[in-house]
Amino acid sequence: MKKILVTGCFGFIGFNFIKSLPKNLEVYAVDLKNNLKEEQKERRRELKKLKEIKFINLDISSENDVKKKLGHIRFDYIVHLAAKAGVRASMKDPDLYFKTNIIGFRNIINLCLIKKPEKLIYASSSSVYSCDNYPVSENSNSSFQTSFYAKTKKINEQLAEEYSKIFNVNIIGLRFFSVYGPWGRRDMAPFIFLDSIMKNKKIYLNNSGKNLRDFTYIGDVTMALNSLLKTPLPQGHSIFNICSGKTYLVSDLLLALQKKVGRSAKIINRKSNPLDVYKTHGTSKKIEKALGCKIEFSLENGIVEFIDWYKKNVFK
Ligand SMILES: NC(=O)c1ccc[n+]([C@@H]2O[C@H](COP(=O)([O-])OP(=O)(O)OC[C@H]3O[C@@H](n4cnc5c(N)ncnc54)[C@H](O)[C@@H]3O)[C@@H](O)[C@H]2O)c1
Repeated sequence: MKKILVTGCFGFIGFNFIKSLPKNLEVYAVDLKNNLKEEQKERRRELKKLKEIKFINLDISSENDVKKKLGHIRFDYIVHLAAKAGVRASMKDPDLYFKTNIIGFRNIINLCLIKKPEKLIYASSSSVYSCDNYPVSENSNSSFQTSFYAKTKKINEQLAEEYSKIFNVNIIGLRFFSVYGPWGRRDMAPFIFLDSIMKNKKIYLNNSGKNLRDFTYIGDVTMALNSLLKTPLPQGHSIFNICSGKTYLVSDLLLALQKKVGRSAKIINRKSNPLDVYKTHGTSKKIEKALGCKIEFSLENGIVEFIDWYKKNVFK
């Protein structure tokens, strides 16, 4: 049986990815044990129902622990999703982001030197782009970043480029664009909006909702990750956008949620936050060509699934 290591298993994307994996893989799932948020504990409870997963409590920023707990196993695939996510928090505690996102990344990549996997896939982000020519493609300018979080992701890409040559290993970086859907992150707009509408709480709308986002459905992300495991790719380091290829006003997401649940939101408009980029909009042509598939979930369909999950699991 082939072995797969997934880091960040109690996170939004890691959790959904593990749930989507076929039964013929031996799954090793890494995350922290302490100080988990309620949403991570919920995902952990759900994953523990899948008895065949091997959970490993590990802080990826500890070089010794990574070697001790993982160095003896040869994984066929490594999917590295553990990171400190979030733009604003990275400016308050850059050191934690440095340790987790850069040192942690190096520690995971070093496993490839010990026992080479077929593929290492890691999470980058749309926030690496520094370009206003839309939609952005993988070759668009990403020469500067506006947050420390985005910088850590750009450094990951640069390290991956070099390590893939030095270790002669296939490494794939995925630039995710605003992922949403069931089991979604509670610090992101889709969850905050829906939860506030349902609980009659105020919604503070940055830039009065005029920012634009390429919202990407989690089902498309897990589909792409699963196809990437199976599909042969060129040797070396490759980078792909994982996006819907469409962009929406944040206010339109809010309108669509209100319409679908039949309730209105209490909106308080405010100025834009300097850390928020005005627009994200990518093209998914490169990944679709490589995998021979379409990333096609529309926001309208995606939010139906999202609301359905929310009503069954959060707002009971
Ligand atoms: N969700 C998005 O829209 C989005 C967009 C762009 C990039 N990304 C990237 O995709 C990846 C997954 O994102 P997500 O939304 O699932 O984030 P998440 O915060 O839900 O999950 C990250 C997981 O990593 C774990 N983690 C953090 N530090 C760790 C450490 N030191 N050791 C072990 N585990 C640790 C956390 O406990 C958490 O469970 C991240 O790398 C993120 O930066 C996500």
